[in-house]
Amino acid sequence: MLKEQRYVTTPIYYVNDRPHIGHVYTTTLCDVYARSMRHLNHDVFFLTGTDEHGVKVEQSAIKKGVSPQELADIHSAEFRSIMGKFELTNDEFIRTTDSEHTKQVQAFVKTLLDSGDVYLGTFEGWYDEGQEEYHTETSARELDYTSPINGKPLIRSSEKNYYFKLSAYQDKIAELFENNPTFVRPESRRNEMLGRLKEDLLDVPISRTNFSWGIPLPTDEEHVIYVWIDALFNYITALGLGDTSSDIFAKRKKYWPASYHIIGKEILWFHSVIWPAVLMSLDLPLPKCVFAHSFWISEGKKMSKSMGNFIDLELIDSYVDKYSMDAWRYYIVTQGPLGSSDADFVAENFQDLYNAHLVNTVGNCTSRVTAMLGKYFDGVVQTESQNGKRITFDGFDWPTTCESAIGAWSLHMEAFALDKAIESAMCLIREVDLFINETAPFKLAKDETKTAELGAILYQCLEVLRIASILLDPVIPSKMNEFRTAISAQTINDTFSETIAWGGIKNGSTVEKVALFPRVS
Ligand code: MSP
Repeated sequence: MLKEQRYVTTPIYYVNDRPHIGHVYTTTLCDVYARSMRHLNHDVFFLTGTDEHGVKVEQSAIKKGVSPQELADIHSAEFRSIMGKFELTNDEFIRTTDSEHTKQVQAFVKTLLDSGDVYLGTFEGWYDEGQEEYHTETSARELDYTSPINGKPLIRSSEKNYYFKLSAYQDKIAELFENNPTFVRPESRRNEMLGRLKEDLLDVPISRTNFSWGIPLPTDEEHVIYVWIDALFNYITALGLGDTSSDIFAKRKKYWPASYHIIGKEILWFHSVIWPAVLMSLDLPLPKCVFAHSFWISEGKKMSKSMGNFIDLELIDSYVDKYSMDAWRYYIVTQGPLGSSDADFVAENFQDLYNAHLVNTVGNCTSRVTAMLGKYFDGVVQTESQNGKRITFDGFDWPTTCESAIGAWSLHMEAFALDKAIESAMCLIREVDLFINETAPFKLAKDETKTAELGAILYQCLEVLRIASILLDPVIPSKMNEFRTAISAQTINDTFSETIAWGGIKNGSTVEKVALFPRVS
């Protein structure tokens, strides 16, 4: 079967700071998508990594008395370590100091220089040092001349740099937005960009002279390549697009264009306006969708180290230790800021959600069904048929219900509506609870003439739970794996449609009682 490609990326993270909930969140979203696409038998490439050049890294290194490369090595290693720890299944971890990346960036910049879309000029504007971004007079005024990211004053600054003619792409970018209403999601973010696109586009610097920690401009040694241009290219250098004779290109060119660039809302302009214009200039296809989520705030306020509400790795560890890694993943993915509003991280909400969804729904239903199989049939799965006919129960057409849940799940996952996809699996589990309450197997167990019905009810419960466990696998992989092992279900193999189809559990197979999510107080 011909596989379709799915390419999903996170932003690459700055190495002047340590990882926190924001980085873990974006990467976990991409992980859930990547895992689900693999289940759907697509050919997936999931990229993350670190953004290591620029004035901020240079300055942090000076402060710490180490070289920028040393600082980058230490922090990049920490970002890399969160991948394994949070069970994030990225296929590649790119570093912008990798020679494969720097070489290709120089090649791309050379092509831009030759294309006539780049010129040497002087620009004066309001500079956000933290974000390494220039603002126009209008936008600086709107921001009250302070950085929207760190609140520090914007600096009036003028620089002689190489500029990319973003202004020449005004119409093409407008067309892109008009012709592809889902190029930027969610819609509220798209509207924000459309608002900004009403103003004349300013050309953007692609080089800098005020520091040296960057990729040298191939044609002018006084300049290093602007960190944002360097960073954006990671999405295609990881695929070898700038070195068409390389093995990497041969293996990975098929993944471009990206299915999704998943980013936070603060870097949408770079991704939805500057990046497409650069790709247009290079004559390369554009990503299919730039999805900008909102921010985690903490206990009602913007996260800040000085306020003491910062969600760093140490705090995350305390949740993982108390509730499990899967519970952590489930909480951030289902309660996080995927839509247009920020999400508040509140300890109490974590506990409530854990109890309601994981303990009382997934945990309780799986343990209830496996316990009844143990009690009534010594843990041996019965058949759901009698005289060659399936025993059915009024109001519960399970094969059809499962099929439509699987269909909804697939569509939602493809559309990056991860919360809705997860909800379609949770609905199945809630319906199993309802089924148990209505058919009352514990009553049938007292009547020897009802053994066939009892066996069929428990078969059907277990089979729905098995299917739900595959659908929940991308978000809570360890627990769902534990469950499938306990019920002797086959592993999720290459043919999703077969693995997930009704009837996967064979009668006669054995089941152990499970306790997946213990109650925590
Ligand atoms: N290096 C640039 C991105 C270059 S991409 C070509 C950068 N790095 S960063 O380290 O600052 O990471 C920013 C990303 O971290 C955001 O876009 C978002 O994905 C994530 N988050 C950072 N803080 C966040 C929250 N408080 N909440 C959710 N995610 C946020 O920008």
